[in-house]
Order: sequence, then C-alpha cells, then structure tokens
Amino acid sequence: MLLTILCSLLLLVNAQPHGRGLSVEPVEDCSLLPAYNEETRIAGPWTVHVDSCYNGTATDGKCTIEGFGSSSDVTRQRGDPVDLIKHGFITIVSSSENVKTQLRCNGTLNRIEAYVPAGPDAYEWQALGINHHPSTGRLVWGRDFEPVQAYRHYRRGQTVDGIFLGANKQTNWAVHSSGRDVSIEDFKPYWVMRLMIPETTFRKNEFHTLIRIDGS
Ligand SMILES: *[C@@H]1O[C@H](CO)[C@@H](O)[C@H](O)[C@H]1NC(C)=O
Ligand SMILES: *[C@@H]1O[C@H](CO)[C@@H](O)[C@H](O)[C@H]1NC(C)=O
Repeated sequence: MLLTILCSLLLLVNAQPHGRGLSVEPVEDCSLLPAYNEETRIAGPWTVHVDSCYNGTATDGKCTIEGFGSSSDVTRQRGDPVDLIKHGFITIVSSSENVKTQLRCNGTLNRIEAYVPAGPDAYEWQALGINHHPSTGRLVWGRDFEPVQAYRHYRRGQTVDGIFLGANKQTNWAVHSSGRDVSIEDFKPYWVMRLMIPETTFRKNEFHTLIRIDGS
C-alpha cells in the first residue's frame, strides 16, 4: 500500500514539466493551434523552437540556443534506395542562419507533420512522432513512432503562455550537440532533441528544455 502511494507520487513528480505545480493538457485539435486555416484545415506552417532551456553550468542558467528553431537530418538504413530518403529526425539549428524545417498540424487527421527531404531536390509533408529506439525519444518521420502532440501548460490552474510539443503528457526534452556530425541538408552541425520519459535519464552534455510552437 505504502509502496503504491510512493510510486504514484514519484510518477506524479516525474510527470511535472519544469518543476512542481504544473500540469499539461493536450491540444487535441489543429484548429486551436497558431495560423489555422479553416479551408485547408491546416495550422501553420510554423517552426518550433527551444524555449525555457536551462543550462546548469551558466551563471545565469540560460542556454545559448534559447529561441533556436527546428531543422532536420535524414537517416539511412542498409537496403534503402540511394535516390530516396525514407526517414529522418527533427533537430535544432546550431546557428540562426541555418536552414529551418517547417512543421504544421493537418486537421484532417489532427496530426503534426514536417516538410522534409524525400529525395534530390524533393520535399514532402510527413507525419512526425516520438521513436523510443534506438536513440530514445527522437522526433522522427518514416519510422515506428508514438504520435507527437501539442500541449498547454497550467500552473495552479492558470494557463501558461505557449503551446509545446510532447507525447503522453510529457513535454520535457533534452538537447545535446551533434558534435562533429553535420546535417545532409545544409552540412552544418545541429542539436539533437529527445523527449524525456520517466525511464530516461539525462546524459552528460544534455540541456533541459521545452519545444514551443512559433506564434503560440
Ligand atoms: C552552457 O554554459 C556553459 C558555461 O557558460 C557554456 O560554455 C555552454 O556553451 C552553455 N551551453 C548552452 C547550450 O547554453
Ligand atoms: C492532410 O492529410 C490528409 C490525410 O493524410 C491528406 O489527404 C491531405 O491532403 C492533407 N492536407 C494537405 C493540405 O496536404
């Protein structure tokens, strides 16, 4: 009994984005997101960006990448056709001049999509989601995933500014630098974002952040 209570409490604490007293609620319908067009049933396109990022080693706690927008990189698997791009993941730019990747919410199926490379000079809208393997929690397309969703935050019942990406009521992300890896879209380094779930732990060199929809 006591153990059950303790476990529930732990789960509750883990489910809280950025500390105590916060709750999250999904924004189920695209019509509630920025730049919704009733005729096309599309919200957006917009980019998403790093918001409320925390840097524990900076004296002011601020991240150098606060406000940086979304980009993407492709992944290849043995056996993939050379001239086709079938899967990849959403990243964060390492410099504000880098190529941005646009996202939107398609109201027909109420799903979040990104405009990503499909082949040489070809782009297409692809549904996005969280892939828990092998690099836990990346935001991917073209692979098995759990759909990504938009969420509002509430602090003691009051709406917090902004709409954030997440899944399963989790909206905390960890970001780390790609190091020497560059995106095949612009040959620039980038930041990898992973959605935190109760089972994942922060790695060295990761920063805690929210991912906010532009214009929200
Ligand atoms: C975090 O802070 C350290 C110390 O100021 C700095 O060297 C590093 O670049 C910062 N990283 C980010 C992502 O803000
Ligand atoms: C939205 O998604 C539906 C279902 O996949 C698709 O038929 C439709 O063309 C999409 N909307 C736009 C504007 O592409």
